[in-house]
Amino acid sequence: MTTNKIEDSVGQNFWEQLWQKNETGWDIGQASPAITQYMGQYTNKNKAILIPGCGNAHEAEFLVATGFTNITLIDIAPKAVETLKEKFSDIPQVKILCEDFFEHVGNYDLIIEQTFFSAIPPTRREEYAKKMYSILNPKGKIIGVLFNWRL
Ligand SMILES: C[S@@+](CC[C@H](N)C(=O)[O-])C[C@H]1O[C@@H](n2cnc3c(N)ncnc32)[C@H](O)[C@@H]1O
Repeated sequence: MTTNKIEDSVGQNFWEQLWQKNETGWDIGQASPAITQYMGQYTNKNKAILIPGCGNAHEAEFLVATGFTNITLIDIAPKAVETLKEKFSDIPQVKILCEDFFEHVGNYDLIIEQTFFSAIPPTRREEYAKKMYSILNPKGKIIGVLFNWRL
């Protein structure tokens, strides 16, 4: 049977395996400087913020430390989410969901991208754009760091 490298490497099992094996080479170990710089000048701390495909969510730690009050984190990998739930266990400003971004229902003023785009196969980019649009409030924004495909 032939396999498609891209299409095979997108589901929950694929990501969970990487998390289980601690193969998280994308993780820069701190909040992305481009994002901290942008959020450092963002004055309304109560805006609804989503970080999809958040991984270890270093950006959420920065947001909490700088006073943001309404942060939602999504990751599809249960192992990643387990760690997040421990890390943010006593921080009510952070809501954590183990979910597929494409199934998520919500409304946000700001969506923060830190290498999640490159986790989505190029064939789903139109769906990604439509999904982002559907969960952004009027005048909402996506900000962050987007790379091309990761393979
Ligand atoms: C390249 S990693 C980036 C993680 C984190 N943003 C960072 O930069 O350290 C992509 C993350 O997206 C998650 N992910 C992949 N597909 C997803 C989906 N459809 N919905 C939610 N999370 C997903 C993976 O489990 C992984 O943690």
